[in-house]
Amino acid sequence: MKINTAEFIISNSDVSKCPKDFLPEYAFIGRSNVGKSSLINMLTNNKNLAKTSGKPGKTQLINHFLINKNWFLVDLPGYGYAKVSKKTKSVFQQFITDYFERREQLACAFVLIDIRHEAQKIDIEFMSFMGESEIPFCIIFTKADKISKTKIDSHIAAYRKQMFANNWAEMPPYFVTSSSEGTGKEQLLNYIDEVNQE
Ligand code: GTP
Ligand code: MG
Repeated sequence: MKINTAEFIISNSDVSKCPKDFLPEYAFIGRSNVGKSSLINMLTNNKNLAKTSGKPGKTQLINHFLINKNWFLVDLPGYGYAKVSKKTKSVFQQFITDYFERREQLACAFVLIDIRHEAQKIDIEFMSFMGESEIPFCIIFTKADKISKTKIDSHIAAYRKQMFANNWAEMPPYFVTSSSEGTGKEQLLNYIDEVNQE
C-alpha cells in the first residue's frame, strides 16, 4: 500500500473528543522515546508530521492523522517516563487507558519496543492489559539500525523467551523497523492494508 495523503486532524486528551468518523485506526504506543512519532513520520514520508525529540516525553496528547482520506494513524504519549510528575503521570495513564478501552474504531495497536533492550516490566504489564481487554495488537521492534543485522534475530528470540517466562503462550505478530533507514515500512503498511480489508 502507498500513502498518498497524511493530514493532521486533531490533538486532545479526551477520547470522547477524538474524530467521530467511523474509520479504522492504528495506534502507536510504548515507552517514551521508543520512536512512535518518528515511525509515523517514516510511514507517511513526512519528517514534520508528528513532533519528535531526542528527549523523552515529547508527545503529550492523542494525535489523529488521517491517511489516504480513509483511515487514521494515532500517535500517543509514551508511558514509563520517570521525569513527569506523579500527577501528570496518572492523568496520562488515565487517558491512555480510556483511549484503549473506549475507542471502538481501533483496528490494531502497535506496541513499540526498543530492539536493544530486554523485556521491561512496564511493557509486559501493558501487553497484559491489552490481552485482558481483548484489544488486537502487534509488537514493533524499533531502532533496528542500532544493532547489527545478526543480532536482530537473537534479540527477538530472547524477547520471545522472556514473554513465555511471563506467561504468554505465543508472541503476537511482530515487525522490525528503523525510522532512519526505512526498514519495515512495506511490511507494516501491507499489514495495515490487510486489516483494513477485513
Ligand atoms: P515520546 O513522544 O516522548 O513518547 O517519544 P517517541 O516514542 O515518540 O519517540 P520519538 O519518535 O520522538 O523519537 C525519540 C528519539 O529516538 C529521537 O531522537 C529519534 O530521532 C530517535 N529515533 C526514533 N526512531 C529511531 C530509529 O529507528 N533509529 C534511530 N537511530 N533513532 C530513532
Ligand atoms: Mg512521540
